[in-house]
Amino acid sequence: MMDIYLENASCLLAAGAPYEIKAIEGLTAHIPAGQFVAIMGPSGSGKTTFVQMIGGLIPPHSGELRVGPYQLTKKADRRRLWKGLGCLFQFPEHQVLEDTVFQHISAGLNRLDMKPEWIAERVKQSMEAVGLDDAKFKELSPIQVSWGELRRIALAGVLVAEPEILILDEPTSGLDGCERNRILSLLKRTHEKKKMTVLYITHRLEEALEYSDRILVLAHGELFADFLPCEIRTRWQQLEQIGFAKTPLLRYIDMLERRFALNVPDNIYKEADLVSFLASLNWGD
Ligand SMILES: Nc1ncnc2c1ncn2[C@@H]1O[C@H](COP(=O)(O)OP(=O)(O)O)[C@@H](O)[C@H]1O
Ligand SMILES: [Mg+2]
Repeated sequence: MMDIYLENASCLLAAGAPYEIKAIEGLTAHIPAGQFVAIMGPSGSGKTTFVQMIGGLIPPHSGELRVGPYQLTKKADRRRLWKGLGCLFQFPEHQVLEDTVFQHISAGLNRLDMKPEWIAERVKQSMEAVGLDDAKFKELSPIQVSWGELRRIALAGVLVAEPEILILDEPTSGLDGCERNRILSLLKRTHEKKKMTVLYITHRLEEALEYSDRILVLAHGELFADFLPCEIRTRWQQLEQIGFAKTPLLRYIDMLERRFALNVPDNIYKEADLVSFLASLNWGD
C-alpha cells in the first residue's frame, strides 16, 4: 500500500540562488493509501510544490518523505515511484500532442508487452471512465474536440495506466460549471472503483467539500489546516484568516441562524442535511 508519510519535510526552489525560496517548510502529514485529498491554500502557498514533491518530481531538501516503500530523498526511489503515479498538471490539454485521441491515451501505457487488443480495451475503458464514447472520439484529432473534452482526454491518458496515486493540479480551472461537475463526478466514480489515492488541488471550497475525504490547507509553505469536510464550520474562524470565502450554502446557514435565532449543528454543511434538520424542527403553529 502506498501510504504517504511526510516528516518535517522542506523543499527549496532555486536552491543556492540569491532568490532561493522555501516553498515547503517543516511539513508533517500522513496520507493513507486510497484517500481523496483536496489541497487548498492561497496562490503561492506551495500547493504545486507539495504535490510535485510527493510525486517525486522535485526532491525534498530536508526531512523525510516516504511514499509506500520509496524514500523520496533518493533519486533512484523517486524514479521507481513514477511507475505508479499519474500526474495531470495545470492546463494539461497542452500536453495532448499526438495525432489522434487514441494515440494520446494509449501513449500512457507501457505498450511493449501488450497485445493491440489489450491496448484498445484499456483505452476504451479509460475513455468510458471520463465519459467519452470510444467509437466517436478515438480517431479524432485533439484539435477537433472542445476544451472540456480535451481536458477529459488528458485525464483518460493518465487513468489508462491505473495509477496508485493520482495527482491533479487544478484539473477543472478554466472550465465551465457543467464540465467541472462532470469531470469531478467521473473522477469520484473512478476513485470509488479503483481506490487510488487522489491529491487534488483546487481553489473551490464547494468542490473540496463535496468530493474529498479530507482537506489539507497550505499557507506560506506550511500546513495551515488539516480537517474533514464535516468539520468545515468549526474551522471557519481559522480559515477566514487566510482569505477563505464561504460557499453559498454556508452563507445561507449563517442567515438562517441570524434570522430565526436558530442553532444549526456544526456538522451540517450539505443541502440534504440542512433540509432534514429544518424538517425536524418544531416550527410551532
Ligand atoms: N520554478 C520556481 N523557481 C522559483 N520559485 C518558484 C518556482 N515555482 C514556484 N515558485 C515560488 O514558490 C512558492 C510556492 O509556489 P507554488 O508551489 O507554485 O504555489 P501554489 O501552487 O500554491 O500557487 C511561490 O512563492 C512561488 O512564487
Ligand atoms: Mg499551483
